[in-house]
Amino acid sequence: MPKIYAQGQIIECQHGENLRKVLLKHNIDLYNGGSQLINCRGIGSCGTCAVKIVGEVSPANWRDTTRRSLPPHSPERDLRLACQTRVLGDIQVTKYDGFWGHGSQIVWEPFA
Ligand code: FES
Repeated sequence: MPKIYAQGQIIECQHGENLRKVLLKHNIDLYNGGSQLINCRGIGSCGTCAVKIVGEVSPANWRDTTRRSLPPHSPERDLRLACQTRVLGDIQVTKYDGFWGHGSQIVWEPFA
């Protein structure tokens, strides 16, 4: 079973599970501030579930690449939308600041 390292937790999940659902189920702070209430609930349109991922996940789908090509996201940034990402192996997740998680300051890291 793949392991997710996020915000100091080690979470085991099923191969292919949706990253957003797993993180929320384990009370990881996937959303920053007001985006906890105002988000698209996983349809890939708001962009607030953006995280940095190191490890094996599904390729970015068109919803992920399209939303991250629009401001305040940037297609050059190495982020992914958790709601559009399936976990395929052990991964390390980092959350950045800003309403959309698009900032440059780390909010939490894999191990803290
Ligand atoms: S929850 Fe809105 S894009 Fe992921």
